[in-house]
Amino acid sequence: MSSKKAPNKKPSARPAQNQKPAPAAAATAEALPPPRKGMGPIQVVRGMRDLLPADQHYWRRVNQLSDEVASSYGFERIDTPLVEETALFVRGVGRSTDIVEKELYSWETPGGENVALRPEGTASAVRAYVQHGMLNLPQPVKLWYTGPMFRYDRPQAGRFRQFFQLGFEVLGDADPVIDAQLIIIGWNYLKALGIDATVRVNSLGTPESRANYKNALVAYFRSKKTKLSEDDKRRLLKNPLRLLDSKDPAIQEMKAEAPQIVDWLDEDSKAHFMRVLEYLDEVGVPYQLDPYLVRGLDYYTKTVFEWYANGEDQELAQSALGGGGRYDGLVEQLGGRPTPAAGFSFGLDRVVSRIKDTQPSSTIGYKSEVFIAQLGDMGRKKALALYEEFRAANIPVCEAFSKSNIKQQMEIANRHGSKWVVVIGQKETLDGTAIIRDMEAGSQEIVDGKKVVHEIKKKLGRITNGE
Ligand code: HAM
Repeated sequence: MSSKKAPNKKPSARPAQNQKPAPAAAATAEALPPPRKGMGPIQVVRGMRDLLPADQHYWRRVNQLSDEVASSYGFERIDTPLVEETALFVRGVGRSTDIVEKELYSWETPGGENVALRPEGTASAVRAYVQHGMLNLPQPVKLWYTGPMFRYDRPQAGRFRQFFQLGFEVLGDADPVIDAQLIIIGWNYLKALGIDATVRVNSLGTPESRANYKNALVAYFRSKKTKLSEDDKRRLLKNPLRLLDSKDPAIQEMKAEAPQIVDWLDEDSKAHFMRVLEYLDEVGVPYQLDPYLVRGLDYYTKTVFEWYANGEDQELAQSALGGGGRYDGLVEQLGGRPTPAAGFSFGLDRVVSRIKDTQPSSTIGYKSEVFIAQLGDMGRKKALALYEEFRAANIPVCEAFSKSNIKQQMEIANRHGSKWVVVIGQKETLDGTAIIRDMEAGSQEIVDGKKVVHEIKKKLGRITNGE
């Protein structure tokens, strides 16, 4: 990411002790930036976006399913703050990861605390687990969360500076069945959304086997140093595993001959990985072994995995829908007792984008069954009360009370896909009746004004004629 390209000034990720205390007046008018030149409209900040009403039904579907899936697997929801101590991510995610080194939104508060917008949810979940003594609860503790995350990444398709994650974390259990069940949960979640995806799996072993592998990898890439870009040379020094997911074609070519981590795994990690794969085979969840899958966060041990959408689209195929793995050292690293744990998260922006691309909105959109049309002041009053009756009866209903023109109201009813329109005009108000119009058949009937909801319930098959 170059700061030239990005119009916003990059927030500093440097630890608090290197920074001068911020002026106490940071929140006052003098501390605000000068007014912008020109009077053009202010745009959304680069890399951020509005989720507009037209897309909300996708998000509603995804969020409802998150809740259902989490409950059905016995996960309990946790909400942690968007702002945490910067040190949490430096210690948790890793100082030399891209996420911490380049992408953290961090700043010093007027009180001198060094804080950051969370770039992911695992470190916060672990902090909360330790802070609230969840180690003393029956283990494992299963937590899920959803919400915005922030990374000062280079904006591109499927990559935003504010994005949403859905995450599942299981703390306090080392059994490989946990890793397998997390993968099964992800599989079922995507399947329920009609997304055809594949999970790629690998094992990173223990910190020791990983360190040995790192050395072998460094030796291999050093022997090819002349072919490396400056960026990759830096990676080789700081975080050599990251070379494996470099998009550079030269690295892709070199990778084919590079050492593979499976050859460096200790016996326990190997056995653990085999068990995970056996469980997946048992349930019939298809997976792909990917010996070069390393993930971009430092806390992983043993199993790691990533979800990719199947299909022609190369761009999509390169950006994971989600990822996760085991992180047996993180709880201790963040000040708790040694506690094994594993988890994963989906990037919901990418999940929603996939549903939008592959499924016509009509299959998931909100459809109201009934539209209430009104004519005249008295009709409008009756319609307003009738609307509440429909809501109380749990029947999806919509209206256009501010419109008095009946043609305009019918157009809106059509847009909502309402099959039934209830019309209340001046005459109906005086007679104590209402008209129910069948929009598909084009027919209509007059019914008792007190029985409108009952009549509609019959038409929707919610009650039989005898009731
Ligand atoms: P991650 O792979 O960094 O893992 O992120 C998980 C998912 O978040 C990615 O697969 C992607 O779909 C989405 N994502 C990441 N960055 C962006 C972005 N800039 N724009 C849009 N979507 C993005 C983690 O965050 C780990 N905490 C996962 C985990 C949970 N591991 C164990 N437990």
